Amino acid sequence: LHASLSLSPAFVVSPVHRRTFGSFVEHLGRCVYTGIHDPEHPTADEDGFRKDVVQAVQELGVTTVRYPGGNFVSGYRWEDGIGPVDRRPARLDLAWHSTEPNTVGVDEFVRWCRKAGVEPMMAVNLGTRGVQEALDLLEYCNVDGGTHWSDLRRQHGSPEPHGITMWCLGNEMDGPWQIGHKTAEEYGRLAAETARAMRMVQPDLELVACGSSSSAMPTFGEWERIVLTEAYEHVDHVSAHAYYFEEDGDLASFLASAMNMDAFIDDVAATADAVRAARKLTKRIHISFDEWNVWYQHAAPSEPPKDSWPVAPALLEDHYNVADAVVVGNLLISLLRHSDRVHAASLAQLVNVIAPIMTEPGGRLWRQTTFHPFALTARHAVGEVLAVELASPTHETAKFGETPLLDAVATHDAETGDVAVFVVNRSLSDDATLEVDLRAFGDLRVAEALTLANPDAYARATVDDDASLAPVPNTSATVDGAAARVVLPPVSWTMLRLV
Ligand code: AHR
Repeated sequence: LHASLSLSPAFVVSPVHRRTFGSFVEHLGRCVYTGIHDPEHPTADEDGFRKDVVQAVQELGVTTVRYPGGNFVSGYRWEDGIGPVDRRPARLDLAWHSTEPNTVGVDEFVRWCRKAGVEPMMAVNLGTRGVQEALDLLEYCNVDGGTHWSDLRRQHGSPEPHGITMWCLGNEMDGPWQIGHKTAEEYGRLAAETARAMRMVQPDLELVACGSSSSAMPTFGEWERIVLTEAYEHVDHVSAHAYYFEEDGDLASFLASAMNMDAFIDDVAATADAVRAARKLTKRIHISFDEWNVWYQHAAPSEPPKDSWPVAPALLEDHYNVADAVVVGNLLISLLRHSDRVHAASLAQLVNVIAPIMTEPGGRLWRQTTFHPFALTARHAVGEVLAVELASPTHETAKFGETPLLDAVATHDAETGDVAVFVVNRSLSDDATLEVDLRAFGDLRVAEALTLANPDAYARATVDDDASLAPVPNTSATVDGAAARVVLPPVSWTMLRLV
């Protein structure tokens, strides 16, 4: 197979938004308890946070972390999670059929964010609660002092405001599974009024209205249109969520999942723009793709318990293979390619729950295959996203019809002149030789070429060996005159850095 990629520093999509590399911590399974928080662990700090997890989060390059849910937030009373821990109530978490001990709440989470060097992104409960509780939480977090809630925060050991800028107005309110599920009209009104009141406290917040839980939702499209018709001038972003998994042994379609993400983003942007035109408004709504990942949703670890209410049960602990990592790398390519509209994204989730980072309670930490494309893209996608012209051979897939075998995006750091190309080969059987046309750049050489691939696309990292499947140097990468060449093995993800 042969493919070619043309790029130029003149053809810029948008700056790389650092928030593209966000993630998500939900009170779900072992994400919080025995994930980020494990006071019994040998590396636990004075607040009970695992230092090895903080280190891995930094290595992953995560920029923002959405919290506390997810479905969990739609039944959450944030006040349960503040003040002396021994006086906090335990509650039923209906979303995940678990008991929430409330040992970790907003103050602990923000403290953890500061340690990890990430920006907190807060979701308010618009399922069982409404405008007032959202305002109370905002006052608690962001008002300096001199009011009931802000003084309480100070008493609880946080004299400085938490300074949270980005707020999600509920979670997946289009989903019938959501506690307090609403119609688009009901939710659109509530989102608009919550946003309007929150801006009375702090005008410069960045507010995210719930879009669709997936592009397969029967209400997709109409939901965005109605919600934005109600809330357009009060919000900055609309959310999108998407999870992918291999179905019925159709690896070729699964590897092409980014085709769905591309179309989803284009459709949400078009719908937002249609509302803008109809309402004669000027600003543009951006997309916060604040849940995305591979998730084998119908597999056993996703089933919440039915007959008991455990604390932090092992839930959604998907064990990822090489193909999953290639898809994750490709989804990041899609997000970056759409940086003109996608201004934030959250890999769902961060630790243990459909996560790149896994922990044993009190024990070892290990990295899933999906850790690597995320970490390398977060580190090396710097500067501006370039519009690339990719000529790729195609094949037929059951889900997408004629599908390009390769997919790629590139970034250019105007300060250093460095170029990074991220590319996948979705062929199940063939190597692909990619030629990158560099005539628009000065002299460049290969600084690094790393490829994640394996003869067995279903190979998985384990707690005993999480290194063997990490990307390895691709020695085929060369620059010859004004073209770079690299051979991409089947079912692979590659990063090519040229300096
Ligand atoms: O990330 C897991 C779950 O997926 C979240 O709680 C929910 O928002 C989505 O359906």
